[in-house]
Amino acid sequence: MSHARAQAAMTASARSVPPTPDAGAGAAVQGLDAPAWVRHARLLEWVAAIAALAQPDRIHWCDGSQEEYDRLCEQMVGAGTLRRLNPAKRPNSFLALSDPGDVARVEDRTFICPEKREDAGPTNNWVEPREMRATLRGLFEGCMRGRTLYVVPFSMGPLGSHIAHVGIELTDSPYVAVSMRIMTRMGRTVYDILGEDGGFVPCVHSVGKPLAAGEADVPWPCSPTKYIVHFPETREIWSYGSGYGGNALLGKKCFALRIASNMGRQDVQSGGIGWLAEHMLILGVTSPEGRKYHVAAAFPSACGKTNFAMLVPPKAFEGWKVTTIGDDIAWIKPHSDGRLYAINPEAGFFGVAPGTSWKTNPNCLATLSENTIFTNVALTDDGDVWWEGLSEPPAHLIDWQGRDWTPADGKAGRKAAHPNSRFTVSIAQCPSIDPRWDSVDGVPIDAFIFGGRRSTTVPLVTEARDWVEGVYMAATMGSETTAAQAGATGVVRRDPFAMLPFCGYNMADYFAHWLDLGHRLQAGGAKLPKIFCVNWFRTDENGKFVWPGFGENMRVLKWMIDRLEGRAEGVEHVFGTSPRHGDLSWSGLDFNPADYAKISSIDKAAWVQELALHEELFERLAPRLPRALRAVKAQLEERLQTEGRAAA
Ligand code: OXD
Ligand code: MN
Repeated sequence: MSHARAQAAMTASARSVPPTPDAGAGAAVQGLDAPAWVRHARLLEWVAAIAALAQPDRIHWCDGSQEEYDRLCEQMVGAGTLRRLNPAKRPNSFLALSDPGDVARVEDRTFICPEKREDAGPTNNWVEPREMRATLRGLFEGCMRGRTLYVVPFSMGPLGSHIAHVGIELTDSPYVAVSMRIMTRMGRTVYDILGEDGGFVPCVHSVGKPLAAGEADVPWPCSPTKYIVHFPETREIWSYGSGYGGNALLGKKCFALRIASNMGRQDVQSGGIGWLAEHMLILGVTSPEGRKYHVAAAFPSACGKTNFAMLVPPKAFEGWKVTTIGDDIAWIKPHSDGRLYAINPEAGFFGVAPGTSWKTNPNCLATLSENTIFTNVALTDDGDVWWEGLSEPPAHLIDWQGRDWTPADGKAGRKAAHPNSRFTVSIAQCPSIDPRWDSVDGVPIDAFIFGGRRSTTVPLVTEARDWVEGVYMAATMGSETTAAQAGATGVVRRDPFAMLPFCGYNMADYFAHWLDLGHRLQAGGAKLPKIFCVNWFRTDENGKFVWPGFGENMRVLKWMIDRLEGRAEGVEHVFGTSPRHGDLSWSGLDFNPADYAKISSIDKAAWVQELALHEELFERLAPRLPRALRAVKAQLEERLQTEGRAAA
């Protein structure tokens, strides 16, 4: 490839953050010469430019091998970042304890920086891109001194899938490099897909803690200054200051949701039909007669997506089978048959540990039996892990901050595991894995489910009357916040499509994209997936959950499948169609109509208030809000006035 062509093809990242004036700085870096299997001139120039800027001591080109993974883990054990767990109890597994100031995604430090503020929209933080680039240039200059820069090639989605896309993460964190090997298809083969000129999303990450000559490192380097930045027009990601989860594993929220949501919409602008990047689990459900359906479900963070994705049907549902394709993110594209097909762009689970037990999610616990990296859970005296909800607390633990812990501390309100503590593990280890989880074609989606965490107001399950009403339901979803995001928990906030922290452009345009895609598919004669809204979290007068949830959610799933097959009854009410008590299967569960009323009733006064909150969201998004959604709201308001209470 000629130099001129390589220059022309350079990503905006390399163009807009040029090497420091002393171009020789890059040349001094050990390992700057890439291995022969990297033949992509634009990539090589970009790595050189970032190395010149960040000034690492050396560069390591990850090949994704087991040997490399083992070596990096061993190196982190030596550095105190990882602790090897007891191999007899948890083979080939590790525990990392993070800095107490680096424990969750930092939404207030997350920025979407298109040229125009309106394109980021009112729900995203925006800074003028030139100003943000100048800030980043200042932060990244010399930020990797004393460290190794790892070049991490990864595919989001099965290698070779037409739905998949490639990213390259440059990071100074070996914890990120090994985690990316679990969470994505990471390694040398990605370069075969890229060839000499393939497109990739450039992702630059630093923990933001350069080391002076002779300075000793800390087990979890990070910085109090944090920036998680996306440039959607040039499809770049820059992350500074955090080594934790979605802040640092840039394939996940940054690429697979914020940048990919832009890519799905940009596809329309360049003449395609468009696609969707969603905060959704994907599961397969097979009936005793052998009919198989696929469902994609959106829930806000830490609302049980992993549990739902690995659901074990109750005994009374013998013959029903639920299989797991993904637990967090779905990329969904229309196929030539007019249907929407989904892949899980990830290859691993980065799930919340607390609350996971043999009772709540046996498939997940079995998945975690080996080859797992745990972060911020507690350590038992016999070298295993523990978290709240796993079992009775042991008599002594080392907590997530490395301090002694006894059940008395627990009673005093000190958690042994951080509420957002996590496991990182390969999806291939999951006993309920779907045979098509790695299929390059993806799986056809029959239904979308949207669910928030609401202690009041929203019924157990409602089926939208049509696509537009379903989009309205998803757009106006509210949820009580959890520990997955820094800040207060338990506060109800609007979380449209469970995408509030993840939509990489103006939320009103995102609603329009969903509506338009539906219209385009319908115009082509496609039968669209049904849309359902669920709420597992209603509480009684004592604040206790009424619905047992977990495996019992199968009862709701079965009703949905029966609706798809045109076999289940329900009652139409103000907001759509819901099952009456008698429309669900109760065999094996004593759940009386009075309790059912508590989770399915529609309280008119509460809904008047709820619609006022929908209005608040709509006001915020007003300049670009699709008219169709206002029309649905007007219809609902009218129905609420005339129909009042719906049958429970
Ligand atoms: C996650 C999240 O980690 O949504 O999946 O926060
Ligand atoms: Mn998530």
